Amino acid sequence: MGIPLPPCYLTLFLLLFISFNNVGHRNLVFANDALIEAQCHNAEVPETCIKCVKSDSRSQSANKVGIAAIIITCLSNKATTLINNMTTLASGARDKNLKVALRGCEKGFYYTKTNLIAATNRLKGKEYDQTNLLVKQALEEEFVCKMKVEVLRFNFPSSVTFDMGVYEELSTAVMRIVDRFV
Ligand SMILES: *[C@@H]1O[C@H](CO)[C@@H](O)[C@H](O)[C@H]1NC(C)=O
Repeated sequence: MGIPLPPCYLTLFLLLFISFNNVGHRNLVFANDALIEAQCHNAEVPETCIKCVKSDSRSQSANKVGIAAIIITCLSNKATTLINNMTTLASGARDKNLKVALRGCEKGFYYTKTNLIAATNRLKGKEYDQTNLLVKQALEEEFVCKMKVEVLRFNFPSSVTFDMGVYEELSTAVMRIVDRFV
């Protein structure tokens, strides 16, 4: 049973409630920008990390684990782009060895995506060592691809080299973030 309030108090109460709610919401948004920046701070390239996290609509309500999950999603999206690029490059390659190497890259990035799905599940299960192990294995696929193509003296188009660089930066970023959960 509530105490009956005169209508003017009720209005005042409602106004106060609405304004507190707005302030609270705004603070929450600022607080999360600070959290995202703090989490990305120890990455080699914080800007790449921040850009990835903020591009995801989940970022404004994400905690530390949520931020790590977003970075793994960015990695998976990059891997998809790289699969497409390797497919295109492989079909255009005239040199047989290069074609084989690029098909290998394509398969490598498929494997990477499988690993990243597993990494997300481990992260949800709070198995942080396993999360990082899977992210590291996925990164190794990228290194193997780069190495096998480099020995054939093929240069990737600059946008592909750039995306591979972003892939490496995001991998180290998420591993450093997850390392601090343990
Ligand atoms: C790489 O793949 C992306 C996504 O499919 C595409 O937008 C981009 O043009 C591709 N780049 C090259 C160099 O093939």
